[in-house]
Amino acid sequence: MQEFDQTVTIGATVPTGFELTAAEEVQEKLDATARVSKNRGRIYFDITTDKLVKVHHLKSLDNLFVVVKEYDNYQFKDTKEEVELDWLELAAKLPWTNALEVWKLNNSIRKRKGRRKRANPTKSDQCGTLCTDTVLSDPEELWEDLEALEVKENQRDVSPQPENDSEEGKLSEDQESGVLPLKFRVTCNRAGDKHCFTSNDAARDFGGAVQEFFQWKADMTKFDVEVLLNIHNNEVVIGIALTVESLHRRNITHFGPTTLRSTLAYGMLRLCKPQVSDVIIDPMCGTGAIPLEGAMEWQNSFFLAGDNNGIAVSRSVNNIKHILKRTHDGGSSSGLPLDIVQWDLCNLPMRSSSVDIIITDMPFGKRMGSKKKNWELYPLCLREMARVCKPGTGKAVLLTQDKKCFSKAMLQMGGLWRKSHTVWVNVGGLHAGVFVLKRTAVVFGTTSEDATEPHSATEPQKENMEDASL
Ligand SMILES: C[S@@+](CC[C@H](N)C(=O)[O-])C[C@H]1O[C@@H](n2cnc3c(N)ncnc32)[C@H](O)[C@@H]1O
Repeated sequence: MQEFDQTVTIGATVPTGFELTAAEEVQEKLDATARVSKNRGRIYFDITTDKLVKVHHLKSLDNLFVVVKEYDNYQFKDTKEEVELDWLELAAKLPWTNALEVWKLNNSIRKRKGRRKRANPTKSDQCGTLCTDTVLSDPEELWEDLEALEVKENQRDVSPQPENDSEEGKLSEDQESGVLPLKFRVTCNRAGDKHCFTSNDAARDFGGAVQEFFQWKADMTKFDVEVLLNIHNNEVVIGIALTVESLHRRNITHFGPTTLRSTLAYGMLRLCKPQVSDVIIDPMCGTGAIPLEGAMEWQNSFFLAGDNNGIAVSRSVNNIKHILKRTHDGGSSSGLPLDIVQWDLCNLPMRSSSVDIIITDMPFGKRMGSKKKNWELYPLCLREMARVCKPGTGKAVLLTQDKKCFSKAMLQMGGLWRKSHTVWVNVGGLHAGVFVLKRTAVVFGTTSEDATEPHSATEPQKENMEDASL
């Protein structure tokens, strides 16, 4: 393949709410300034192609694409027929060459990275297109729809997902040389209520135009190239996908019903700004997404995680084992600064004032636990967290969708915690808050609220999924 080294625009989907965090990471690790899209959950940045490998190693980004062309104010015509004609014209005049070079380069990088899983589309039509329509929606949900095509979020299995032997990303010599046509599909994400067409129409018609221009073959499942058509009101971005599977699936092999995306876990961890030798706990760790991400990225801190559910603890242990095996197979002998235990957060086996950072994803009371139980659980959790956290310097970063219960519990804390700020995120379509708390200097046990009756250990919560044993 011809070497080329030039500036291209990369687009990335990121967890909604963490756009600025992702932009910060891009600045820090690639020395590039990212623009946050009006369309929430996306950022764009320019890089020279020699940095493409590094982009794949960023921790905040879910899906990557190379931008073919962006239009800030695309003028859509009033009738479907006119819009269709415009797609034909557009496909023929788009500057495809550089983006396709980046796509080829990316394929060679991914080949080097090893085998990857192929998408398994569930929402499709018969014309080489895949479409999602949303009116006034959160765009991350659109991308979650896309991700759901790979592995359905809510049907995560407890068993390791086998890597398949897909030849995805590998082009035959005939395809490389252009003798055989490439296979492609168009994926359209549309948000806005002023269009005279659906995403289905746009994907089909733009797909037809791309086919006519390149003479490629439409194929919904075994495509080589995935052309993205992102429409948000009058903003149109045409891109070529550089990831088949979202990068947030990097650490977890043993999923639970509420496994957090690694990208979201990373965003939460960045909010705590871990320092060398900090003791960081995730007291409700589930499958361990947060402490695993933390221990891999902040190796100079120490992570301790636990859960009161034995199955969750086993999953965490298996996830750690899998990562350790992967790093050992890769030739590294270093371990992870991380330990997992089974415990009840309401009665932690830890000394008072011994923890620098508490970071956890609390039961929302939907897929895990119940809203009713949260009324009892949340105040107990916040109080026990206040006991183990260092007064004056300690902090907590807590994710929950049960905002009402959380706020009420905070009011019962007698000033042990002070809310610093909140990041609003989208977790599997649910609007949730990441609450950043500072542990005040108030000494635990001296206020009427926290000097109450001894903590009662709560029953392990049943996961309301069909829960196979390990
Ligand atoms: C939302 S899930 C955490 C998911 C996790 N972040 C992951 O990526 O898998 C909440 C967890 O809190 C645990 N939990 C509930 N009550 C608890 C308690 N009293 N002590 C410890 N863990 C508890 C549940 O078993 C569940 O695994």
